[in-house]
Amino acid sequence: MVKVLFVCLGNICRSPMAEAMFRDLVKREGLEHIITVDSAGTGDWHVGKPPHQGTQDILNQHQISFEGQVARQLVTTDLNDFDYIVAMDTQNEKNIHKLTSLHTSTKIVKLLDYVPEADKLDVPDPYFTGNFQEVFDLLKVGCERLLKEIQTNENASREGK
Ligand code: 4NP
Repeated sequence: MVKVLFVCLGNICRSPMAEAMFRDLVKREGLEHIITVDSAGTGDWHVGKPPHQGTQDILNQHQISFEGQVARQLVTTDLNDFDYIVAMDTQNEKNIHKLTSLHTSTKIVKLLDYVPEADKLDVPDPYFTGNFQEVFDLLKVGCERLLKEIQTNENASREGK
């Protein structure tokens, strides 16, 4: 099983959007038996809350389910439990690394590492910008490329490379 965790600050705008979009992609590719998806926030202000209305609206527009998703805070054990931890911005990534032991094999990346043509390193926070469409567009490309990378790695390890 490949376990993927998306991380942002509040776990109500960007990472739950990424979680829902990535799960939808995984489902459409018929890979639910291989890949699991979750999200968390580095902060605890919104724990137990559903995604922000702006995230809900854009996911609904695209008929992408976010059923059952509620905010939770990132915990130390996540660093061992997940294979990929995908941060939405540089500050999230720094906070994730603060919880990491040197021995973790978890791959810690930023979502926009997969979108080098974007003119930015961080997914802008729509909690402050109000621009959920921009986030959706960046996440769409990033999630597709992340899934391709996972599929390539899985195929390689199955072939014993
Ligand atoms: P997110 O956005 O990290 O994309 O979920 C935020 C949500 C809430 C807050 C900050 C960012 N907040 O300060 O409450």
